[in-house]
Amino acid sequence: MAEQSLSKIVKNDVDSADIIVVRNLYKSYGPVRAVDGISFSVGEGELFGFLGPNGAGKTTTINLLTGLARPDSGEILLAGLDVRKNPAAAKFMIGVVPDESNLYPELSGFDNLCFCAALYGLKKAERRQRARQLLEFFNLGEAADRKFGDYSKGMKRQLTIAAGLIHQPRILFLDEPTTGIDVASARQIRKLIAGLNREGTTIFLTTHYIEEAERLCQRIAFIVSGRIVKADNLENLLQPLRGQYSLLLTFSEDIETRAELQFAFSAAFPELVFEPIHGRELRIKSTRPIAVGPLVRFFEEQGCEILEARRLHPSLEEVFVRLTGIEAEQMKKEKEKKEGVGR
Ligand SMILES: Nc1ncnc2c1ncn2[C@@H]1O[C@H](COP(=O)(O)OP(=O)(O)OP(=O)(O)O)[C@@H](O)[C@H]1O
Ligand SMILES: [Mg+2]
Repeated sequence: MAEQSLSKIVKNDVDSADIIVVRNLYKSYGPVRAVDGISFSVGEGELFGFLGPNGAGKTTTINLLTGLARPDSGEILLAGLDVRKNPAAAKFMIGVVPDESNLYPELSGFDNLCFCAALYGLKKAERRQRARQLLEFFNLGEAADRKFGDYSKGMKRQLTIAAGLIHQPRILFLDEPTTGIDVASARQIRKLIAGLNREGTTIFLTTHYIEEAERLCQRIAFIVSGRIVKADNLENLLQPLRGQYSLLLTFSEDIETRAELQFAFSAAFPELVFEPIHGRELRIKSTRPIAVGPLVRFFEEQGCEILEARRLHPSLEEVFVRLTGIEAEQMKKEKEKKEGVGR
């Protein structure tokens, strides 16, 4: 009988390659629509990113998907299982790494991991072995017996991820895994996430760092005010910018006051678009690659000295700003203000 129901679960699983399926999900807190009708799916083995500013609904989405909060309406299937109807089965399938650690400050790193392992029913010998293995893997072996509360921020984040992996989950949920920690620890954690994914773990992560989403994720959803503005793979997201070349020029002096420059430029280079940014910076755009030499000569003749010429590649940042109207730098600053960190 047990075998029959297992084969049913596995069969469901095979029917769809998507390990996470979310349909028309809603969650409000009083008047606030934290999650406002989102639908998306994540393929098995995929690294999927939720990218959005403060208050966009990222944490709420993770809470709904992991059973920490109840949706007002909508459907969540994990490996074909309805999370609301099968919370226990879902619990064993997923690992959750919250934005703020849920581990015990008074317990050592080792004891914290053993405690988490006990919650998943691992036997005592197994718990200790798994805890040691994870501590070694995260280079925390020497800190194993120190109190979690005394760990650095980066070490805390690493142990929290280790705790999320204690029962070798198929899907790992990571809520802003690199926020609030130093650059070196963040790099290490990104490497680790990529490695886990390469080894087959499906990963759902939230972030407000555009570069992080671009570097790590295979597919990205932009979330703003509880809604998904766009979700696609990186290649498709960047597609509208293909065939667009731009060059950023920095001059030794302010060129904003030189109104005649734009007319002379357009006459000399009718195929190029002249777009002053501010002060000493100018952006030049074209649908074809831009040769720098003729531009340098032109500006020299006009009495303007170019200090730097930088080619700008189509970036996710440009796509994000176009679609959401939110400036990347602004999103980063707001977050840092909230976290009280610099990065
Ligand atoms: N438990 C709660 N009670 C009341 N309001 C809540 C609760 N949880 C979230 N909200 C509200 O829902 C909205 C979405 O919050 P959420 O924490 O999901 O955003 P987020 O994208 O994770 O933001 P951040 O980047 O700041 O972590 C916000 O307006 C928030 O104030
Ligand atoms: Mg959040």
